[in-house]
Amino acid sequence: MSGYEYTMGKVVDLKVEQKKTLETPVLKANLILKSMYLMMNLLYGFKRTLPEELHLGWLKKVFLPRIITGAYYYLTRIMWWMNPKWSFRMNAAFESHAEHEYMKIVQEHPEWENEQIESEYFEFYPKQKSMADLFRRIGLDERDHMYHSLEGMERMRK
Ligand SMILES: [Fe+2]
Repeated sequence: MSGYEYTMGKVVDLKVEQKKTLETPVLKANLILKSMYLMMNLLYGFKRTLPEELHLGWLKKVFLPRIITGAYYYLTRIMWWMNPKWSFRMNAAFESHAEHEYMKIVQEHPEWENEQIESEYFEFYPKQKSMADLFRRIGLDERDHMYHSLEGMERMRK
């Protein structure tokens, strides 16, 4: 049995989980990830923002994200082919980074606590009472993804 506590589908105190994230260090990024973060920051700015706030054109809103996502996918495939452990390790660090970014952006936006949201996506995704909780829940999804990759990495050791 794995020692990882997945949170998807469980009732959890989202604020407690956010605190846990912020008290836990981000998994160390390799050079590839660091360059990727730098490139993203150069393209989209160093401040944590929601994409809508940036008023992006088609290139940065649609085209580049697709290219970057595609490139990341092939990169993990190539790494997998060289050594599956590297691929799992890099993805775990990427998910850990995402988890921390979501929790930090919530911390930076106390006004989101009172901002209610309605979305058709709640047909498929756990409904949250505020914008803050929605982002906390998404952050926890990233933590689950990280656990998934770490488990994959551990399987490779056996
Ligand atoms: Fe993820």
